[in-house]
Amino acid sequence: MGTLIITLLFVCLLTRQTMQLERQHCDKQSFCDCSNERLPQVPKVPKDTLGFNLSFNQIEIITEDDFQEYSHLKTLYLQNNWIKSIHESAFSSLGNLERLDLSYNHLATLYSYWFDWLISLRHLNLLGNTYEKLGRGFLFYRLGQMRTLRLGSPRLYYMGKNDLVGLRDLDEMVLSLNHLIHYEKGALRQIQLNGSLTLCLRHSFQNDLVLVKNILKDICNSDISLTIADVMMNSNATVQPFVEAMKKGVTRFSLNNVTATDEAIIYFLMAMDNSPITFLGIEDSSFLGRGFWDNVNATRYDKLETLYIKNLAIQDFYAFSSLSYLENILEFPKNISVINSQVFLMPCPTSRLLKRLEYLDFTGNLLTDIAMRESMCDGHGTLQQLRSLNVSKNSLRYLDIMSHLVRNLNKLESLDLSQNVFSEMPVVCTWPTSLRYLNLSLTQLRDITACLPKSLHVLDLRGNYLTVFDIELPYLKELYISGNKFRSLPSGRWFPTLQLLQIQKNIINMFDTMDLKEYKNLQNLEAGYNIFDCSCEFLAFMQQKVGQLVRIVDGPDSYVCDTPVDLRGQLVVDAHLSIFECHMMVAVSGLSTIVFLATLICGILCYKLHVVWYIRMTCAWLQAKRKRKINANIAICYDAFVSYSERDSEWVEEFLVQELEGAQPPFRLCLHKRDFLPGQWIADNIINAMEKSHTTLFVLSQHFVSSEWCKYELDFLHFRLFAEKNDTAVLILLEPISKETIPKRFCKLRKFMNSRTYLEWPEDEMQRPLFWDNLKVAIKRDA
Ligand SMILES: *[C@@H]1O[C@H](CO)[C@@H](O)[C@H](O)[C@H]1NC(C)=O
Ligand SMILES: *[C@@H]1O[C@H](CO)[C@@H](O)[C@H](O)[C@H]1NC(C)=O
Ligand SMILES: *[C@@H]1O[C@H](CO)[C@@H](O)[C@H](O)[C@H]1NC(C)=O
Ligand SMILES: *[C@@H]1O[C@H](CO)[C@@H](O)[C@H](O)[C@H]1NC(C)=O
Ligand SMILES: *[C@@H]1O[C@H](CO)[C@@H](O)[C@H](O)[C@H]1NC(C)=O
Ligand SMILES: *[C@@H]1O[C@H](CO)[C@@H](O)[C@H](O)[C@H]1NC(C)=O
Ligand SMILES: *[C@@H]1O[C@H](CO)[C@@H](O)[C@H](O)[C@H]1NC(C)=O
Ligand SMILES: *[C@@H]1O[C@H](CO)[C@@H](O)[C@H](O)[C@H]1NC(C)=O
Repeated sequence: MGTLIITLLFVCLLTRQTMQLERQHCDKQSFCDCSNERLPQVPKVPKDTLGFNLSFNQIEIITEDDFQEYSHLKTLYLQNNWIKSIHESAFSSLGNLERLDLSYNHLATLYSYWFDWLISLRHLNLLGNTYEKLGRGFLFYRLGQMRTLRLGSPRLYYMGKNDLVGLRDLDEMVLSLNHLIHYEKGALRQIQLNGSLTLCLRHSFQNDLVLVKNILKDICNSDISLTIADVMMNSNATVQPFVEAMKKGVTRFSLNNVTATDEAIIYFLMAMDNSPITFLGIEDSSFLGRGFWDNVNATRYDKLETLYIKNLAIQDFYAFSSLSYLENILEFPKNISVINSQVFLMPCPTSRLLKRLEYLDFTGNLLTDIAMRESMCDGHGTLQQLRSLNVSKNSLRYLDIMSHLVRNLNKLESLDLSQNVFSEMPVVCTWPTSLRYLNLSLTQLRDITACLPKSLHVLDLRGNYLTVFDIELPYLKELYISGNKFRSLPSGRWFPTLQLLQIQKNIINMFDTMDLKEYKNLQNLEAGYNIFDCSCEFLAFMQQKVGQLVRIVDGPDSYVCDTPVDLRGQLVVDAHLSIFECHMMVAVSGLSTIVFLATLICGILCYKLHVVWYIRMTCAWLQAKRKRKINANIAICYDAFVSYSERDSEWVEEFLVQELEGAQPPFRLCLHKRDFLPGQWIADNIINAMEKSHTTLFVLSQHFVSSEWCKYELDFLHFRLFAEKNDTAVLILLEPISKETIPKRFCKLRKFMNSRTYLEWPEDEMQRPLFWDNLKVAIKRDA
């Protein structure tokens, strides 16, 4: 039984954990990323999942049920697993799937029934598996919607005529056919490709150029951009496929992962002489020669517009020739990029050849200020058509040299100097007035000066050490100053036309309406990842107001509180401070009002219920008790303590004292006037007197009742009656008093008056002796 419970509990825990796992991996757009988890099988995710990334796991088998529930799925990434087999109806409910990536698995055979269900599929990647053939033909028969296809494996050696039937219009196709041996003519012919075609044909390039030609014949048309990859170009023969493609009208050529020699380049240039080629790209390739191509000086490429070279490793780059004999080639391009290719100099004569150049990108090379001086012919008459110059990520150090070199480029609009090490900005610079875009990000600048061109529309100063911005840029529309050390937004009056401000990752605590209102035209703001002090004003501003002033482009997730400590890490949109923290004044005054009212009510209640009186009485009584304990054998030295009102003193002195003190034996009376110790607290005196007296004689009259002092005596008596049940009082009623005039709290006294006979002072003189007799009897001590 116990085991069962434990097992159940365990199962519960486990399910809960998997539930959490599902949730954890899925975002709000129903995309679940379970990649890189070493999963051996497809985990469960919510049924409405739209995207599912399962790449980089250890899944070997796709079963029938794995994807049965996810009929909404649009994208499925299964690349880089160990998938060997896929059940024939595994994808049967994926009629909405648009993107499927099965690349880099262990699929040895491809089956058309997998794809029969995927009628919406547009993007399929099957690269890098172990299949040798494309199934038994008609593999993609149902995939008429396909747009991009990546196909091929290191073992694929055969492509049959019917293998690609069904595919019609593609935008992109990658055919990794490095080990292709048999190609049935016409296999690629039905496909209308309008976009890029990448062909990896290593084996054929070396051994079977006929095969290459057949492929190119079938697939090439004037709309494609052809990339030949993974090949070695080292002879006249290896150049002939390009000639073939050119014949079919291809104008955009790229080489990727190609190794080329001087010889091949020469053949290539000669073969392309007078060709319609407009784009020539070389990427991730290496060049073994030194650029001695003199005998191609007669070739012309007047259609060539763009030369794009990236990551070209030139073995002997330091010995590379100046290319100045390529006048007929270099004269035409408008667009040259040589990125990450160890360029350390472009000699002035070469630069003079680039008469039509509008766009020059030398990102990521080895250019220094001196090299730039040479390349730009010291700023005299070269590159006159240049609109955009990109020398980011080189080794430039002096901004004034750069500004000097470009000052005569009257068409220059865009200058990217990012990722150089300028550190300082000179005070004066000379920029062409056409300059609209300047990128000085990541250049270790500490200050900005009036060097900044006034004509700018876009300025990027990201990732520097700036703290202030106090230069007016009257036309600026976009300012990027993320990753600096700004403590607050720069004043908007410097940028009367600014529309976009990006100021993330600074040390800004807050900003408010005032700050934003200074910007007259600001529409978009990105200010996340700062160290926000989530005060009430800031929270209120960000949660309610800011949306009316600008659009927050970088979304609420990048605005996180840094202080106060208990809000640290919370999103600014979610953070809340209590009303007390937010409305201190109101809260304090509210609270004081409440306290005041409470006190008032308390006071009224106390007054009404005589609480104070009770407390006072209790104190006095306790005190008296304590005293009595201390001098327990306190001597009774009076027969009676007379309590009376001052107004009745006449009667007391004239009648009472004379009668009682003159009696035989005389009574000893204690009168406050006569016997109280001066200097003592009156209450003490009273208590003392009452304690020392055998009885207390109350002379009751209207005066007595209304006199404070006597009330006190009465109070005390009342208390004593109440507490000790010690009936040691004699009441004399000087005049009739209605019981109602006696305060209610003397209920005991009222009762006392009811129960006790009290002595009434007779108006009639005849009755007075009787009164005195009675009084004496009442006072007389029991022996
Ligand atoms: C899927 O996961 C892999 C590995 O984590 C990642 O490289 C890839 O970008 C992800 N794909 C998508 C579309 O998120
Ligand atoms: C090829 O695509 C381009 C741009 O996508 C388009 O302008 C052109 O008309 C397309 N050509 C054909 C033949 O569909
Ligand atoms: C580049 O081509 C070589 C063979 O020429 C090949 O071994 C290598 O894997 C290729 N590199 C890439 C990234 O495809
Ligand atoms: C290169 O080869 C082509 C075709 O094989 C031939 O017509 C051409 O003359 C050759 N070019 C040179 C310079 O040998
Ligand atoms: C090509 O170079 C040769 C010598 O290298 C020279 O004699 C010839 O005039 C040049 N032709 C052109 C068109 O520049
Ligand atoms: C030049 O090429 C780059 C990169 O291919 C491209 O971004 C740019 O728009 C092109 N510029 C011109 C003027 O063709
Ligand atoms: C400069 O080149 C780099 C790398 O190609 C690119 O990221 C950057 O956008 C370019 N700058 C301009 C202004 O085109
Ligand atoms: C400025 O250059 C940096 C780094 O080269 C680049 O990331 C950034 O996109 C450029 N800025 C703009 C506004 O193009």
